[in-house]
Amino acid sequence: MPRKNLHIATFGCQMNDRDSEIMAQLLADDYQTTDDPGKADTVIVNTCSIRAKAEQKAFSLLGALRKYKKIKPEMVIVASGCVAQQDGRKIFSRMNHVDLVIGPQSIYRLPELLKQTKEKRKKTTSTEFIKSFTIPPFLPTIKNGLPHKRFVTIMQGCNNYCTYCIVPYVRGREISRAAEDIVAEVRHLVDHGIKEITLLGQNVNSYGNDQKGKLPNFAELLRQVAVIKGVERLRFTTSNPKDLSDELIDCFVDLDNLCSHFHLPVQSGSNQVLKRMNRKYSIESYLERVEKLRRARPDIALTTDMIVGFPGESDDDFAVTMNLLETVRFHASFSFIYSSRPPARSCEFTDTITDEIKSRRLACYQARQKEITMERHQEYVGRIMEVMVEGESRNRDGQWCGRTTTNHIVNFNSPERLAPGRMLEVKITEACFNSLRAVRVVD
Ligand code: 5AD
Ligand code: SF4
Repeated sequence: MPRKNLHIATFGCQMNDRDSEIMAQLLADDYQTTDDPGKADTVIVNTCSIRAKAEQKAFSLLGALRKYKKIKPEMVIVASGCVAQQDGRKIFSRMNHVDLVIGPQSIYRLPELLKQTKEKRKKTTSTEFIKSFTIPPFLPTIKNGLPHKRFVTIMQGCNNYCTYCIVPYVRGREISRAAEDIVAEVRHLVDHGIKEITLLGQNVNSYGNDQKGKLPNFAELLRQVAVIKGVERLRFTTSNPKDLSDELIDCFVDLDNLCSHFHLPVQSGSNQVLKRMNRKYSIESYLERVEKLRRARPDIALTTDMIVGFPGESDDDFAVTMNLLETVRFHASFSFIYSSRPPARSCEFTDTITDEIKSRRLACYQARQKEITMERHQEYVGRIMEVMVEGESRNRDGQWCGRTTTNHIVNFNSPERLAPGRMLEVKITEACFNSLRAVRVVD
């Protein structure tokens, strides 16, 4: 049994979730995880810097750890993730109780860096981007983590430089992982009972572009993974619409285990704004992709990310964003107020929008999206759908929770206990704002 305690707090996206799992696994020989930072010998704060608010949250947690370190001076505090990459050594001057700062590329060196920090009793930083960096082969442990579904990282970084986005600065250039390693990791997971795999990257559609000729493209990789026996459900995230190829759309025709959900961030409904965001697609081409996807897989559920209040966004620009909602009728949106993130280029744009207008636009967008989501949910009432069991609902006895191929959460009663990952049919009886209600179809 490992004798020491590790607490990891994770902010941000699924890439960070996966990185936290990897760090926990790398330290598993010596550490068991604890939910209580006060009981920990080592605390890792895995930070996100996508918007100013996320960064503030990370710093406020790091600040709160000071009191534990005062009581227990031998405690080691690690800042990892995107804020760590961005601020490097500067974190020590703001938070002098932090011992180790590591960027996303350095997580695989965590055991060695931690040892060094403790032995030398010296603050350590590892945030350099190494040109020759490759994501090492890595087989996840089965006992830690969900028993039925897992993320598999296929690439790191991003080359797109959307003008609002800090990711290329903190996650570096795109580096694709070897296809054999991805396939080996998926095989290992399904051999141990995992049923659903989500392939993960900042921009999965450009998988392989950094090593053209040596690696398959994303559609080819998807096909290689889909045929692995035991992969009952396959998902991926995230995609930039500019790289969404016909070849990838064809996968939705051919691959039965590829789920009927596509998260396709559009960011704005206005061509003018998209241009200044450096998104490299027009609304017309976005709509053409949506139409093709719906032809390939008529039941596909589309979700998106939207930014309101980007510099220069006029009332007319916002009005066309609202029109896009009516045209596409996304099943759900993640919508955000624009946040200036130096050194991302838009921080230099001077035609900023007032906070009041930004908030008003966000409220307007979210209110309409909420109605559309509800209308979309109502379309499912009366239908029989297959769900993969997630587990028991937290708040109600005898209630179970599952997920459809379209990524909707469904709550239903079951007198018998159900194992996560079990597939069963339910009949949808009611639409709620965040989920669907159903009854089991007894076979
Ligand atoms: N301001 C607001 N939202 C942002 N996102 C990325 N950068 C910013 C920013 N500077 C949003 C985008 C992206 C999602 C992960 O976060 O919508 O798709
Ligand atoms: Fe950021 Fe654009 Fe890359 Fe997405 S595609 S991570 S929004 S730069």
